[in-house]
Amino acid sequence: MALLVWDPRGIYVDLTVGGGGHSRRIADRLTEGGLLIGCDRDADAIAHSRNSLPSGVRLRQCRFSEALETVQPLIGDGASGVLMDLGMSSYQLDHAERGFSYLADGPLDLRMDRSRGLTAAELLGTAEEADIERILRRYGEDPQARRIARSIVFARQRHPIRTTCELAEIIRHTVPATQHKSLPRVFQALRIAVNGEMEELDAGLTSGWNMLKPGGRLVVISYHSLEDRPVKQFMKTLATPPVPDWGSHPSAESLPRGRLLTKKPLLPGAQEIQENPRARSAKLRAVERIR
Ligand SMILES: C[S@@+](CC[C@H](N)C(=O)[O-])C[C@H]1O[C@@H](n2cnc3c(N)ncnc32)[C@H](O)[C@@H]1O
Repeated sequence: MALLVWDPRGIYVDLTVGGGGHSRRIADRLTEGGLLIGCDRDADAIAHSRNSLPSGVRLRQCRFSEALETVQPLIGDGASGVLMDLGMSSYQLDHAERGFSYLADGPLDLRMDRSRGLTAAELLGTAEEADIERILRRYGEDPQARRIARSIVFARQRHPIRTTCELAEIIRHTVPATQHKSLPRVFQALRIAVNGEMEELDAGLTSGWNMLKPGGRLVVISYHSLEDRPVKQFMKTLATPPVPDWGSHPSAESLPRGRLLTKKPLLPGAQEIQENPRARSAKLRAVERIR
């Protein structure tokens, strides 16, 4: 909050309103003239926020890739701050019918926006074995990707894989008990694939940056290295002076567009992790727009 909300009369955009925890904190810091816009691709998050956030907060259901277009009419000459708290929300994880948890039985859905796209069950029911393996390897970084992909294809020939517990059972049978790390990895991989998260992240960073006015700040919280790497790279590029054209004179264009506010990512302290164990892998990075 200290990095993000530097002007209490500014316009702020929470691109991942989720359960509204961060939005509530932002709204608390705003004074007259300040505005908070909350976005999320999940209709449940928007509906819940309508009841729980102050009525002045403007809420929009949209994906990162649609966010700039959606909020543009509301932000005038630009936002003072944009927040992206990546990944899934506690709400999504805790509601078994959303299919995000391998610990609770529910339909194997995993979509953040249930109005469009393939569910994880549909993906696993139709994809080639090689594509399933590629998804598990790339997005789950799972060394057991090949074995698990083969087991999934073998299992679906007898019976479609429809629920989280059916998939968890297949993984448990495929990899030895010591390797049950595959369970979170497979679910993470499917979530990233079903929601197009890596493409969305790229679009979100660019949109978030383009919403800012000079002095505005982009704050991003990521939860695993696949997410953190592009965030780090994006911010580093902004804070690096562009390569000048040969023979050109120094000008404003030769200055970096951004300034890193976090040289190293901020990590949660022991107390925060104790109070909220889901924050344990969080990394926060922030950049300020200079021009
Ligand atoms: C970690 S939660 C945010 C929690 C929130 N900061 C809070 O305090 O409750 C991430 C949220 O981002 C949303 N989300 C993830 N990817 C998105 C995308 N590409 N476009 C829009 N929303 C997205 C998810 O639906 C989820 O509700």
